[in-house]
Amino acid sequence: MQLDTNSIQAAGYALMDDAQAMLLSGNAKAGMDHVILGMREIKNRYPATEWRDFAQTTFLGHPVTQLIHQCPFTYHSFSKPRGYAGDAELLDFIYGFKQPSQNLATLGREILEHCVNSPISSSVKARKDVLARTIDDVASEATHPTRILSIACGHLREAKESVAVQEGSIGQLVAFDQDPLSLEVIDREFDNGSIQTIRGSVTTLVRQKQSFENLDLVYAAGLYDYLSQPFATRLTKIMFDMLRTGGKLLVANFIPDHREVGYMETFMQWQLIYRTESQLANVAKEISALEIANKRTFFEDNGNIAFLELVKA
Ligand SMILES: C[S@@+](CC[C@H](N)C(=O)[O-])C[C@H]1O[C@@H](n2cnc3c(N)ncnc32)[C@H](O)[C@@H]1O
Repeated sequence: MQLDTNSIQAAGYALMDDAQAMLLSGNAKAGMDHVILGMREIKNRYPATEWRDFAQTTFLGHPVTQLIHQCPFTYHSFSKPRGYAGDAELLDFIYGFKQPSQNLATLGREILEHCVNSPISSSVKARKDVLARTIDDVASEATHPTRILSIACGHLREAKESVAVQEGSIGQLVAFDQDPLSLEVIDREFDNGSIQTIRGSVTTLVRQKQSFENLDLVYAAGLYDYLSQPFATRLTKIMFDMLRTGGKLLVANFIPDHREVGYMETFMQWQLIYRTESQLANVAKEISALEIANKRTFFEDNGNIAFLELVKA
């Protein structure tokens, strides 16, 4: 069937009309579920180029956008106060470290509650738990002071949940990120001599202008979702080369077509690079099989984020 250029707008605006009526009648949960599920369906039903135009500009013309932007989490992502998508402050809404202003109106508060308790937010929390558990496992198995590198660390919130970090039994945990504001938060909040912040971009790692060695664990969460396949593949090889024998690499990526994808790409302007489990596994393709003692992929409990774990032979 040939779709005319207005039909995605017509479908989108009809959905947004319904959602607006629900939100204004005091039923925020129904309105949010309606718009979240509906936006994903529209993304899947129309050609990618039509979806891109709709998701980047056309949706803004509907007044429900202003209502939904009363949610500080959604608006933070949309307005990108740090100049890039998915900053650590945004994740702090999900982790419960950032609270809305006291003056926030009821609707904004209800939408915020809905967003930070959505399946995708549960997955982000579960991802943090996987990181904390991995740090603890690596620390408990090591017979020497453990050396860990967190790439694109954000606020390093997983360290607050790691028993090994809290007990001071990590040799060194390097928190590496491009954003000086995030590193300031770590320096302020962790009174722990073993945590060291380093400002840098993954591009400098890929170009091998900056390097680390003899690591027991290197990991990245919330980073691969922004990297092209060739760049992610190169970075994976470089991260793997930083490990000592027996060291572990762990990277995470959102999977395609999760429940909130349409909402994120419109109201939040948060576009990610999604990977299936096998696409994620494929970022290890530059590493010789002889160098890998163990390779596995797995999901966090909600099934929206895949992990690749490699152990060096
Ligand atoms: C979504 S946050 C994830 C933070 C943390 N890892 C977590 O899971 O909560 C993404 C982080 O990646 C960092 N980042 C993005 N691109 C980067 C790059 N090219 N080099 C270094 N850090 C980068 C951002 O500054 C931000 O802190």
